[in-house]
Amino acid sequence: MDGKMIEVSFTVNGRKVRVKTSPTRTLLDILREDLGLTGTKEGCAKGECGACTVIMDGKTVPSCLVLAVQLDEREVLTVEGLAEDPIGRALQDAFVEAGAVQCGYCIPGFLMSARALLAENPKPPLKEIKEGLSGNICRCTGYVKIFDAVARAAQRLAG
Ligand code: FES
Ligand code: FES
Repeated sequence: MDGKMIEVSFTVNGRKVRVKTSPTRTLLDILREDLGLTGTKEGCAKGECGACTVIMDGKTVPSCLVLAVQLDEREVLTVEGLAEDPIGRALQDAFVEAGAVQCGYCIPGFLMSARALLAENPKPPLKEIKEGLSGNICRCTGYVKIFDAVARAAQRLAG
């Protein structure tokens, strides 16, 4: 960590937080190391795998590429916040029911991308589900059950 420290205030899962940090640390590190929110995973650390996806001001972002200096006054939703969120809860149930979870490492990132997708597009056809999740990599499942889970959650929310 370099010598200069900054203080940033932002909201995580509806809770205001204030963190003192080096300006070049990432949101991913702050979530995991400073705030104890270890549901967000680190994969590539280069913005390529989607494991670290969170929602910031309504849009998905790879938290490994968001720096502390960019965080002031932002609103961040992480996988831990999905328990309080109707779309998030429907998605979590559907992932389990569809058998879409194998090792589980990629799943928090998929849940966040799916949450953002269904918030904007409540009845996405398969093509749009695939597009919405195209930034997330899974090495285990072959994706079919993940896509099924998102469709299942959308159906349930519509009913
Ligand atoms: S860890 Fe951030 S995109 Fe891979
Ligand atoms: S369930 Fe193992 S990487 Fe996706």
